[in-house]
Amino acid sequence: MRDRTVITNVTAATMGGEGYGLVEDAAIAIEGERIAWVGPLSDLPADFADAGRLDGQGGVVTPALIDCHTHIVHGGNRAREFEMRLEGASYEQIARAGGGIVSTVAATREATFDDLLARALTRVDALIAEGVAVIEVKSGYGLDLETELKMLRVARALGEKRPVRVVTSFLGAHAVPRGMEADSYIDEVCIPALEAAHAEGLVDAVDGFCEGIAFDTDQIRRVFDRARALGIPVKLHAEQLSNLGGTALAAEYGALSADHVEYASEADAKALAGAGSVAVLLPGAFYTLHETQKPPVAAFREHGVPMAVATDWNPGSSPMGSVLLSMNMVCTLFALTPAEALAGTTRNAARALGLSDCGVIAEGMRADLAIWDISDPAELSYGIGINPLRQRIHGGRT
Ligand code: NIG
Ligand code: FE
Repeated sequence: MRDRTVITNVTAATMGGEGYGLVEDAAIAIEGERIAWVGPLSDLPADFADAGRLDGQGGVVTPALIDCHTHIVHGGNRAREFEMRLEGASYEQIARAGGGIVSTVAATREATFDDLLARALTRVDALIAEGVAVIEVKSGYGLDLETELKMLRVARALGEKRPVRVVTSFLGAHAVPRGMEADSYIDEVCIPALEAAHAEGLVDAVDGFCEGIAFDTDQIRRVFDRARALGIPVKLHAEQLSNLGGTALAAEYGALSADHVEYASEADAKALAGAGSVAVLLPGAFYTLHETQKPPVAAFREHGVPMAVATDWNPGSSPMGSVLLSMNMVCTLFALTPAEALAGTTRNAARALGLSDCGVIAEGMRADLAIWDISDPAELSYGIGINPLRQRIHGGRT
């Protein structure tokens, strides 16, 4: 007989439907790695009377958090660029002068598999300590076949070394490497690297960076066409620094998500809604780059675009290792409600990764849960630098 446990003495924020989907004095029955039942303790089926009990000590239980946009596999850091920006240089100026993403590319090419793994594991540990059970990890600091594969193999290894689910995105179209033209890079390096990574089972989704300092829509379209031919879903860094039409392109390809989207228009919001794509908000990058253009949150709400929230943990635009902080920032900077912020790191984050078995507390879902020492789920977004995690449960295991 499989392990059976019932969590009691908790308020459950199930995140099913509107708002928090609160159940006061809840019971959550776990069988093996799945949720077998959830509801008020008073309605718990007699069948679970002999199951083990886990006392939530009056806290709040939520789905475990999901960080649906990260670049946690990378070499080096860019603290010097942080100083340069404080002295007045912009992110784009630094990139055009040979810094930015391509400087992390040099450090990532140089790093061994073991170096990259050891550094990324410390980042995974920080996220797990905040109740995270699923982490998306992108490539994109290799920009050559060998290093893109190395990054994705490290990403897969993270999920073997730690109790966490890793979802990978191939981001070969992240920047143009030194000494190459964008078009020939896409055709001669990026697409062959995508095919090789896919053949090795390393690619869960294909991503790109559609921007003046990266690739235009025609170039991204070529990558997306190949992804489609291989049967891999797509997502896109779109409308981060300007509006180049990336969000509309992502919607045209039925993307899982369009990410950043500060410069997206109302028409873009409608296109995302029509495609069922998620808008992933990344307030860490907005904050770090002193951006002033906010994503069109009112249009996303009006047209029913699901909004997710993530750290975008990377060494340049968002050296931020806290999902809880991203939840606080998305409320303070973009005026999301704390319930929207929590949906953004649970239900909608799962959707942005194409996962349908996690992100809400409901029968049949994976038992990926977080129990918090709080009395109101809004406290998760309200605190700054406060981590009230009591216990994380991953696939039914504590
Ligand atoms: O999501 N926008 C492009 N990619 C990353 C930044 C990567 C970097 O600066 O190293 C982002 O913000
Ligand atoms: Fe990113």
